[in-house]
Amino acid sequence: MKFFLDTANLDELKKASAWGIIDGVTTNPSLIAKEGVPIEEQIRRICDIVDGDISAEVVAVEAGAMIREGRELARIHKNIVIKVPLTRDGIKACSALSKEGYKVNVTLCFSAGQALLAAKAGAYFVSPFVGRLDDIGADGMELIRQIVTIYQNYSFKTQVLAASLRTPNHVIDSALAGAHIGTAPFKVFDSLFNHPLTDKGLDQFLKDHHKAFDQQTVAV
Ligand code: G3P
Repeated sequence: MKFFLDTANLDELKKASAWGIIDGVTTNPSLIAKEGVPIEEQIRRICDIVDGDISAEVVAVEAGAMIREGRELARIHKNIVIKVPLTRDGIKACSALSKEGYKVNVTLCFSAGQALLAAKAGAYFVSPFVGRLDDIGADGMELIRQIVTIYQNYSFKTQVLAASLRTPNHVIDSALAGAHIGTAPFKVFDSLFNHPLTDKGLDQFLKDHHKAFDQQTVAV
């Protein structure tokens, strides 16, 4: 399973990539807006930090404009994946851009039917939003399971990028469901490290080590 960091914040990207476990980055217009830097400049900086697929989202809403904007975004760096929303125009743009050889991430996917459309349009990634479905009382993880099964049934090449993951359990459950990628904010990956028995065990190991070696030092 690949781990993508869902952020446009450079400090978070630097910290997480130093762990050596981040395979790519997803951004969206809300995340870019938070950083207060023009999209092109911020995406270029992100590409300098992480060597992997970097999703950059179009803000045009009409297919022709999305295609033009997508091509411009792809010129920023070889690792850019053009992100388009799952609308009629987005699917049209995805088909055209995919045929031209661009990698496209179809985002804002909330149903298995929508995921089928993305696969049929040749998407490189589809992004089903788990947390936002949970927010409205639906079962976000069930959507991941359905899409993985449907794509396997027909050997679709589109990869399932589980998005809007908000907790460590979301990451684990996405992995169990067979998602190819999980994208989550920094704090979610940071939380994956935590276990009280790891802390307790390490504390004991170090105490035992120091006890033995401090005694040896005294004996010498
Ligand atoms: O990648 C999509 C993600 O940014 C949405 O997450 O937590 O705003 O639903 P969230």
